[in-house]
This record gives sequence, C-alpha cells and structure tokens, in this order.
Amino acid sequence: VDFKEYVVLKTNQIEKKLDQLVPEDDVPHRILLQAARYSLLNGGKRLRPLLTLATAETLGCQTGAALTPACALEMIHTYSLIHDDLPCMDDDDYRRGKPSLHKAFPEGHAVLAGDFLLTFAFDVLAHDEQLTVQQRLKLISIMSRKSGMPGMIAGQVLDLEAEGKTIDLEQLRLIHRNKTGAIITASIEFGGVVAGASEDQMKILAQFGHDVGLAFQIIDDVLDVTASKKKPGKSVGSDIENGKATYVSLMGLDQAREMAYQLLESSKKVIKPLAKNTTLLVQFADRLVNREF
Ligand code: IPE
Ligand code: IPE
Ligand code: MG
Ligand code: MG
Ligand code: MG
Repeated sequence: VDFKEYVVLKTNQIEKKLDQLVPEDDVPHRILLQAARYSLLNGGKRLRPLLTLATAETLGCQTGAALTPACALEMIHTYSLIHDDLPCMDDDDYRRGKPSLHKAFPEGHAVLAGDFLLTFAFDVLAHDEQLTVQQRLKLISIMSRKSGMPGMIAGQVLDLEAEGKTIDLEQLRLIHRNKTGAIITASIEFGGVVAGASEDQMKILAQFGHDVGLAFQIIDDVLDVTASKKKPGKSVGSDIENGKATYVSLMGLDQAREMAYQLLESSKKVIKPLAKNTTLLVQFADRLVNREF
C-alpha cells in the first residue's frame, strides 16, 4: 500500500482502539471519562502511535500486538498536551481544533483528566495480554523514564525555566530533546520491544528517534510562527507571547528549518544499519519534518 493509504488505515485502527480503551462508562465519575475522551478522541495526527506500528512492522512484527502499547503512548502524549495548555503552563485556549480541555471543562477536571490518562496508560501496559510479562515491564520502564525524568517532564520544567531568558543552543537542544524528543523516541523503541528487537537494533532505533524527535520540535517552533490560524488546530503565536526559547527565536526561521532538514538527513543515515526495509520509517521521518501542522 502507498504511504498515505497506510497512514489512513493505521490511524483508523488507532482511533478505534483508543475509543475502546477509554469508554464512557456509566460510573459516578463519568465526567472524568468524558473529559479524557474530549481530548483523546477525534483529533491529533497520531504520529507517535503510528511510529510504534511502523517500527514494529519494519522489524517483521505483523501480529497487531503493537496497537495497544501504541495507544498507551498516545494517552501519555494527550495528557502532556492537556497540562501543557493549562493557564499555569503555556496558557493556550485552542487544541486539536477545539477549545482546550480547561476551556471546555473546569480547570480542575482538566488537571485530573490529564492525571488519569497518565496513570491509565501504565495500567494498559501492565495488563496487555498480547505481550509477555518481560515485554510489559520493558515498556513500562521506557514509558516511565521517557515521560518523566529525565524525559518529558524534565524538558517541560526547563522550558518554563527558560521563559523570558536568553539561553544557548546547547541548552535549547536539551529542552527539546527532553520535552518532545523523549516521547517520540519512546514510540519508536516501543515498536522495537514489541517486535523483539536485538540490543543493537534498539540502539539504532533510539538514535533515529533522537534525530526525528528533535527535528519534529524544531518544526513545531517554526509552525508556531508561520502557520495560519486555522491549520494546526491549536493556538499559534503562543511562543512569542510567552517569551519561549525556541529554535526560531535563537537562530531565525531559515536556519531553524535548515537544522531540521540536517537532522532528517542524519536520521536516514542512522537507520540504514538496521538492515531491514526502512522505507516506511524514512517516509515517516519525512512526514514529521515536511508538515504544515
Ligand atoms: C504537539 O504534538 C506537541 C509537541 C510535542 C510539539 P503534535 O503536533 O503531534 O500534536 P497532535 O498529537 O497532532 O495534536
Ligand atoms: C510541547 O511543546 C511539549 C509537550 C510535552 C507537550 P509546545 O508547548 O511547543 O507544544 P505545543 O506547541 O503547545 O503543541
Ligand atoms: Mg509548552
Ligand atoms: Mg504549548
Ligand atoms: Mg509549540
């Protein structure tokens, strides 16, 4: 199948699975499920779960066992967006084509829906019977580190600390690798774990994730400046408003783009020694960098 068809097909599977994993049950705390579903469903490019599926497939795993772990990571990602948009963080009112969760529900509910998605993601991994107990433990270990510290949370706190300050490129790279690169790397490593990748293969996958993860956030910085209001489905111009340190604020649009393309080229070299047909992963790397939202 061609790449576009692949993405549509797999995105549909991801949407369906997410819907199943977080049903709107008739429970006293139903509002929590409604809030979580508001942010989780019908929106988002699903790039992280798609990367998990593509990596597993590249390594020869056709069983569909990657789908549930992929969705667990999307829950973590969604929680990170809910909290990232809160007034005490980036204070953004628009996400995934709708008002941010804290605009549609009381702010406390938004905090708790994020907490729920975070904790439930681990529950989903722990109980995934398509995986061996060893695989589950490995995934839980990757997820806790990459979404925590060092990882996404470490990056988010450095991002807040850097607001209104001048930092150098090395510090900014550290922020971006952590706040965004870590989860993207995890999504690729997840595919490796499900497919039973060797240690050497896991190293290659991590390096590949490192490059595309950083490139992805650089383009996010670019799009915050260049995207038209409607396209990204989220607030634009937010970085300048918040005095954020970004690749654009540090080196300008053209050099930021150039940097992303260099990382894309590097990622294509890095993935070669995997000694598999890496066309699909290379197509995803291209998709992550050459995007309009
Ligand atoms: C947005 O991620 C947050 C970043 C880490 C840059 P995405 O651009 O993947 O957002 P969704 O999932 O498509 O909404
Ligand atoms: C997001 O970085 C990193 C996260 C962990 C959510 P941004 O703050 O730049 O993401 P957007 O632009 O709000 O999606
Ligand atoms: Mg942020
Ligand atoms: Mg933000
Ligand atoms: Mg951004």
